[in-house]
Amino acid sequence: MKAIIMAGGNGSRLYPLSKVSSKQLQAVYDKPMIYYPLTVLIAAGIREFCIITTPQDQYRFEQLLADGTQWGISIEYRTQASPDGIGQAFLIAESFVGSDNVALMLGDNIFFGGDAFPRAMAEFRSGATIFAYHVTNPGDYGVVEFDREGRAVSIEEKPAAPRSHFAVPGLYLYDNRVVGMARTIKPSARGELEITDINRAYMESGELYVRRLSRGFAWLDAGTSRALQEASAYIETIERRQGVKLGCPEEAALVRGFLDLDQFCAVAAAMPACDYRAYLEGVATETRRIRGAGH
Ligand code: DAU
Repeated sequence: MKAIIMAGGNGSRLYPLSKVSSKQLQAVYDKPMIYYPLTVLIAAGIREFCIITTPQDQYRFEQLLADGTQWGISIEYRTQASPDGIGQAFLIAESFVGSDNVALMLGDNIFFGGDAFPRAMAEFRSGATIFAYHVTNPGDYGVVEFDREGRAVSIEEKPAAPRSHFAVPGLYLYDNRVVGMARTIKPSARGELEITDINRAYMESGELYVRRLSRGFAWLDAGTSRALQEASAYIETIERRQGVKLGCPEEAALVRGFLDLDQFCAVAAAMPACDYRAYLEGVATETRRIRGAGH
């Protein structure tokens, strides 16, 4: 499975922070926001990425993430001329998707905990898989209702009267038919190709599967200044308490075997002296110890 990360949009809710830099490059505690979705996908075993940005921000993403070889992955870039909807991802990235299945992730969604995503990706066969997360304010999101077998029975975008408390987070898995589906949907009343309309098309053919995310799972979206601040505080708390970093692509690549230990150490050695580098060196030492002990 390949992955597209949607990192365009005008970030208007973060203005003036977003005036000279894209939302997905803003700091969430100690790393750029895009590190978090990237890490989740690397940890789930994905190696081929396409990142969609605004035309003016593309070079900054390239400066930050390059072509991905430093992490044992590949990254292609595409631009979205104007924010015409998340569903446009498949039209923009059609040549990247080719004949593969594809995951779509929103660049401002931050997840933490559990193995729901790696499992869903490993078990994915066909149709579409989305996730459901219980929230107090479902009307701010895509809202899904599903039966006992996990098949969606209704899905609506930001409904005034939500039919359930289950919001749909910004990670979606599709078979290759999604590109054709994206071609058939029409812009919504707000003028966007809605991801919810693509999901509804799968639902109507009985192929929209829903996996409920468990209680301990954290989903944060960092779309407003307050949400960004809260996400930073949350990450800082977990990192300090556990002594591990969230959203660390180098570490995920090492764990997945995309980088061997020598390559991992070389990546760390190329960084300036900083906490992040010290953390990676600590991971290397610990990995050497564990592997040496033959665990
Ligand atoms: O966060 C999950 C929610 O994301 C879902 O529950 C909704 O169903 C889905 O429509 C979406 O809702 P939002 O209103 O939160 O989406 P937003 O416009 O904030 O865009 C989400 C991300 O996608 C953001 O990082 C910017 C990027 N984006 C968005 C649009 C509309 C693009 O790159 N291009 C676009 O055209």
